[in-house]
Amino acid sequence: MPHLCTGKSCDSIALKSPLWLSFQSDLSMAKGFFVSKTLAVVGLVLSLAAVATIVALSVVYSQEKNQNRPEGGGSTSHPPTTQHPSTTQHPSTTQGPPGQLWDRYRLPTSLVPRSYNILLWPRLQPDSSGMYVFTGNTTVEFQCVEETNVILIHSNRLNYTLLENGQRAQLTSITMGVQAPTISSSLIQEQTQYLVLFLEAPLRKDAWYQLHMSFKGELADDLGGFYRSEYIEDGVKKVVATTQMQPTDARKAFPCFDEPAMKAYFNVSLIHENGTVALSNGKEIETTTYGMEESKSYMKTVFEPTEKMSTYLLAFIVSDFSFINSTIDNVLIRIFARQSAIAANQGDYALNKTGPILKFFEKYYNSSYPLPKSDQIALPDFNAGAMENWGLITYRETALLYDEKFSSNSNKQKIATIIAHELAHMWFGNLVTLRWWNDLWLNEGFASYVEYLGANEAEPEWGVNDLIVLSDVHRVFAVDALTSSHPLSSNEEDIQKPAQISELFDAISYSKGASVLRMLSDFLTEKVFTMGLETYLDEFKYGNANYTDLWKHLQQAVDTSGTSLPNSITNIMNTWVLQMGFPVVTINTTDGTVSQQHFLLDPEAEVTTVSPFNYKWIVPMRWMKNEVVQEPKWLLEKSENIIEMMTSSEWVLVNLNVVGYYRVNYDQGNWDRLLSTLATNHGNIPVINRAQLIDDAFNLARAKIISTVLALRTTQYLDKERAYMPWESAVNNMDFFYLMFDRTEVYGPMQLYLRKKVEPLFNHYKNITSNWSSVPEGHLDQYNQVTAISLACRTGLSECQNLVKTWFMEWKNTGINNIHPNLRSTVYCNAIAAGDAAEWDFAWKQFKNATIAIEADKLRYALSCTRQPWLLNRYLEYTLDPTMVRKQDGTSTIVYIANNVIGQSLAWDFVRARWSYIFTQYGGGSFSFSNLINGVTERFSTEFELQQLKQFKADNAEVGFGSGTLAVDQSIERTSANIKWIAENKESVVDWFSSAA
Ligand code: BES
Ligand code: ZN
Repeated sequence: MPHLCTGKSCDSIALKSPLWLSFQSDLSMAKGFFVSKTLAVVGLVLSLAAVATIVALSVVYSQEKNQNRPEGGGSTSHPPTTQHPSTTQHPSTTQGPPGQLWDRYRLPTSLVPRSYNILLWPRLQPDSSGMYVFTGNTTVEFQCVEETNVILIHSNRLNYTLLENGQRAQLTSITMGVQAPTISSSLIQEQTQYLVLFLEAPLRKDAWYQLHMSFKGELADDLGGFYRSEYIEDGVKKVVATTQMQPTDARKAFPCFDEPAMKAYFNVSLIHENGTVALSNGKEIETTTYGMEESKSYMKTVFEPTEKMSTYLLAFIVSDFSFINSTIDNVLIRIFARQSAIAANQGDYALNKTGPILKFFEKYYNSSYPLPKSDQIALPDFNAGAMENWGLITYRETALLYDEKFSSNSNKQKIATIIAHELAHMWFGNLVTLRWWNDLWLNEGFASYVEYLGANEAEPEWGVNDLIVLSDVHRVFAVDALTSSHPLSSNEEDIQKPAQISELFDAISYSKGASVLRMLSDFLTEKVFTMGLETYLDEFKYGNANYTDLWKHLQQAVDTSGTSLPNSITNIMNTWVLQMGFPVVTINTTDGTVSQQHFLLDPEAEVTTVSPFNYKWIVPMRWMKNEVVQEPKWLLEKSENIIEMMTSSEWVLVNLNVVGYYRVNYDQGNWDRLLSTLATNHGNIPVINRAQLIDDAFNLARAKIISTVLALRTTQYLDKERAYMPWESAVNNMDFFYLMFDRTEVYGPMQLYLRKKVEPLFNHYKNITSNWSSVPEGHLDQYNQVTAISLACRTGLSECQNLVKTWFMEWKNTGINNIHPNLRSTVYCNAIAAGDAAEWDFAWKQFKNATIAIEADKLRYALSCTRQPWLLNRYLEYTLDPTMVRKQDGTSTIVYIANNVIGQSLAWDFVRARWSYIFTQYGGGSFSFSNLINGVTERFSTEFELQQLKQFKADNAEVGFGSGTLAVDQSIERTSANIKWIAENKESVVDWFSSAA
């Protein structure tokens, strides 16, 4: 059977974009662009100078390409440099002294930037050697706050033009009476990514200086820094120059003090071909003629200076995109995309929702949006989902463009949510920025929490707020229950290298961050939470803060509002932030005790990380007895007598709506009473908690706290369940069973049992949609319809299989696709699984010709569902060929294939064989490596697989795993736990399924 893909799970994984067939519309320039005559003349003069510079640059570039030598030859007191200064001269230290300043990853604190002037010129055609490049120059103004005779500025893969002084940089003083010292020599430290300038005399404390540099870089298709994205429109290849700076790639676009606390004002200008649009964080002030190069005429667009901001939030884009716009309270909102996408109205949904979401956050933070414009742009190649550049948010096409003919309701929700997430960052992250990356969890966790509030504002009918329980709380429980997990908060000293920073963009930072902040907001009440937020933002605006600063402001809000808490915010939250994992709270209704214990998926795994709180948490408890909600309580100790004993007819349910970040276990009597309530009157238990009971039970069983049979019993009532969340929870847990058992004798009886459970749901949807001819009304109902079809087909319900085959063949035979967008992923997948090369090739052709990335993505996923090994192997090869599958989609496609029981071992062999290639091609800093490693090893459950995994770790110790380092250990731990779990459960599971079915 194909691997299961429900509406949410497959639609929302990474996304892609196809070749474009479309029509050209007039390129419209933004309002306010003009070319004055005088400026045009100036531009022409400048352009001549520019041409001269280019000639010089290309000479320099070829000279500098393979060498790294000090110019000027002034002083000899500095270490001589060689090709690899870091290895030959200065053994690199990553943490603290000793070692030279430039061997450390953190900037010295001696220089503080105030502003930059940046001029960049990306070439959208290759140069004579076939390379795409950009040139630029920058002047940074900074103050010396501690005397120093060396200047360190971040720089990665930039080649410098020697200036008149024969050096890579020119230093001038702007403090009256202070003379700038001469730069005697310089070096490029590749490993720590610095341009290092040695001075003949020290810079004077408190004096201000300007440093000027001209440079050239490659506009590569590597999705980081200033990079190139390509697409085909009207049969013509088009190139976009765009940026992704976070976390440490601004230094790849221009030399800068590339740390989040080094905030400055940026005055940006871009040179771009006549007829293209240039965008940056600030609004365009003017566009003037710049000059000619290789018979093309160029313009220069100057942008308004930015607010004081961090380098990682900068963005520079040149494209021939078009846009739509609206204005809300003097803020200009624009959506940019490929001309054909805008012409097809694919930006309309985003434009309609942005204004209301922006207004919502202004109200939520009680702080108005500080910029005059908010641009959002959909890019054909983009590594993450979206990036919150201040004033110019970048997106994957699938995360911004909506078309009701192609987009599912899940796609639509993703767009509303991701817009909300990025807009939330405009304040939390951009206006106030965490001082260093070790606090990233607060930034991403916060945005991942409030994205639900923002999306709920945009689409109040949907009820998205509850979904955080499935998408974040349950998702992260799975990783945070491993001994290889880590606390939310990291030490500043432990986060130094770019790869260590990238590794922080994980489920812990995002989903645990979101979950504990939701819990905090709940026990404080939203009113008190936002009160603290507001004063926090006000105190630190345009500056930086630590997470403890937020606690301080929340505490003030608690104190002024007279909220009663059992302890300070710091003491409560430290237990969630400074230790990894989470508790399982056990309720014993026979004696009224409530106790807690560190929840570990593998109870035998050794916890080597010591916790400052000895794995005890301060636990807020919302609960109900029978159907009555009780006064909230706190669990402060490992064990306390805080509830009364129950009679034999009473049940308790703890962690209402799963607002608390913990699992709950009960004594057997209470479990039995909850199960019988599910069986007789499941509506008496709130829907989120029905999902919780299933998820908790299955995971408690995996941890051997309760029996697997008890967990399985939570699914028995499902033939009466119609709600999405419990079903989705069950399917997610059954997914684990599929992974463990789809190659064993458990498979048959399990399929039979699940088919029996899902059939009534399948029929329910058939009825309410008048035999699949309409769409269920509710948003979550639409999701559950997908779950129903998907599971019914997966478990072999022939009516379902025939249905999807008929729909697909109708499309294949007539060329007319009548499959509803909500159902496409699952229909395509099942039909391709049932078919052979003809179906696959048809889908591949559709994939390549899709006119919206969202449709291409559904096909890209479905292509992984085939059961033909040779097709899967061929598809694997395509994932490393950017002309077949875009780089941004390579890793997620491999993971899709690995999810397929037949593709699993093929994908694993493929990844092992190509690791060093994948690692270098897909960038050591990209955050998809952890997904890749976790994804291809998910099914691992044998001793043999464990040995292979360990071997893989050893074999590639040299190459490394970058942001996937932690994932390797997580996978080893997961595999060991799986081996034991299967050994202990297989028999009882097969028996149970056989008798229950
Ligand atoms: N700041 C991130 C984008 C990012 C991620 C940059 C990783 C560098 C490395 C952005 O705010 C974000 O979190 N985007 C998410 C979307 C969100 C809805 C979870 C993403 O890209 O998946
Ligand atoms: Zn984010």
